[in-house]
Amino acid sequence: MAAENTKPSDLDIIPKYLLADDEGLSQECLDLIATLPSEPDWFATRLYQCQGFWHTKRLTQGILNFQSHFEARDSDIFLVTFPKCGTTWLKALTSTLLNRKIHYPNPNPDLTRIISPHPLFTVNPQVLVPLLEFIQPAVSSFPSPRLLATHLPYVSLPESLKQSRCKIIYMCRNPKDAFVSLWHFGNKLRPDHNTRDQSNKIDDAFEKFCRGVSIFGPLWDHVLGYYKESVERPEKIMFLKYEQLKDEPVKILKKLAEFIGCGFSKEEEDGDVISDILKLRSFETLSNLEVNKKGKLPSGVENKVFFRRGEVGDSKNFLTADMIQRLNAITQEKLGKHGLKF
Ligand code: A3P
Repeated sequence: MAAENTKPSDLDIIPKYLLADDEGLSQECLDLIATLPSEPDWFATRLYQCQGFWHTKRLTQGILNFQSHFEARDSDIFLVTFPKCGTTWLKALTSTLLNRKIHYPNPNPDLTRIISPHPLFTVNPQVLVPLLEFIQPAVSSFPSPRLLATHLPYVSLPESLKQSRCKIIYMCRNPKDAFVSLWHFGNKLRPDHNTRDQSNKIDDAFEKFCRGVSIFGPLWDHVLGYYKESVERPEKIMFLKYEQLKDEPVKILKKLAEFIGCGFSKEEEDGDVISDILKLRSFETLSNLEVNKKGKLPSGVENKVFFRRGEVGDSKNFLTADMIQRLNAITQEKLGKHGLKF
């Protein structure tokens, strides 16, 4: 497996959260990990199953920290996704919506510089809206409303987040596209995999993904956890699909704005602000910003890896007919009976 093939030079550029050493882990975390089922993985070095979902060692530590220290505020807005389901896009859109009075989202870069440049011109959305199981900045000092994010499944959220009146926006994506996006992302983050044969690699990853063994997986249980809660508490959880946002961006953006308490005025609806936000946060604009072409996250991951094709249905270019049929069948079996279709 990948762990055994990893060269020392590769280790420097692989994000630490994917590795399986014990550096920085608390005794509580080590004791917990010792009790968990585990499997080697193609993306992370090794995954551990905690509360029904698969995480790395460092993510398990991050979850423990998040669960024990986080104090939710009723005004918090949480963006929740399974990895590769449009987190970057959702972060960019929501932060622009919330801050549009301070930083007018003019898609003309020259004009934007003159008015007040939005921070997204100089930092990647991943930095602007932190994933709290990866890094725990001093969020207690953040002004309200705080815009925060996580990939955690519903069952593992801190109790105060579940109990508070804070809002959760959950976005999922067709499992076939999510898998293919994750596979490409994994290849970029794990240079030690690149020497292996591509077709074998996607087969290995696919088998595991179908069994639910993937980082933050099983995807289907992740989706279902939030979907059920969104049906029970629609005022707390807004459930979205990447494909809906692609299909009907204006309608979804308006719903998003209403949901987080910053709906568009009649004047705004009659003006250009909605189309400006969508244009400014489109795949084309974001992926062509200098910061996203050349910059890096504090973890060393290049910003450009969060932008690949940004299309619906790209999985058909990478999966065989059998693979497509198998993933469709799993999705139908696990989500279809709940009325969820992709
Ligand atoms: P693809 O690999 O299919 O291209 P995440 O942000 O959760 O890591 O998800 C990454 C996926 O979202 C990638 O999908 C990426 O290209 C796509 N993406 C990033 N920014 C986007 C945008 N502004 N609009 C649409 N898709 C976007």
